[in-house]
Amino acid sequence: MNDRLIQNAKDYIKDLFSGNSDGHDLDHSLRVYSNAMTIAVTEPSCDIEAVALASLLHDADDHKLFDTEGNANAVSFLRSQGVDDAEIDFIVSIINSVSFSKNRGKTPDSLEGRIVQDADRLDAMGAVGIARTFAYGGKHGRPLEGGIDHFHEKLLLLKDGLNTAKAREMAAPRHAFLEEFIEHFNAENGNQE
Ligand code: NI
Repeated sequence: MNDRLIQNAKDYIKDLFSGNSDGHDLDHSLRVYSNAMTIAVTEPSCDIEAVALASLLHDADDHKLFDTEGNANAVSFLRSQGVDDAEIDFIVSIINSVSFSKNRGKTPDSLEGRIVQDADRLDAMGAVGIARTFAYGGKHGRPLEGGIDHFHEKLLLLKDGLNTAKAREMAAPRHAFLEEFIEHFNAENGNQE
């Protein structure tokens, strides 16, 4: 793997998100990258550099933050680094196969896409998933119960949709923690489920 290229990608998203978000997107992208690398080493046939770049760049053209077409941010970064067109196409195809809203219920065709999708979903689970849910809810004026609804509608379902064995292993304690959190929340909130 080209370490300089990976470092440049980290520097690129740091700059990109510092002007366009509150920093949660950078931290999220770096956690997804870290999860993806942990999964990738257990999948020896994968193109690990493509996994690394796609995970770091997976939100670089997120429509909530950027008004770009055709993954323009990711593509222009990769071109600036001299990555060849076929590799750029592959990385973009991974990025586009990962989005939850665009691909509800669909499994990415490539192993690399399945790894990055798992890495992204893991970051919606566990303590970080809980923190992200309430941070988002607070920003949008949603009551706490709305966060609990979101756990039932989305986060508790993620475990069963994972693609790789390593991600399933990583997900188990995160899922258990989510369930435990809901139990405590409901007990303190006076609801019985
Ligand atoms: Ni993401």
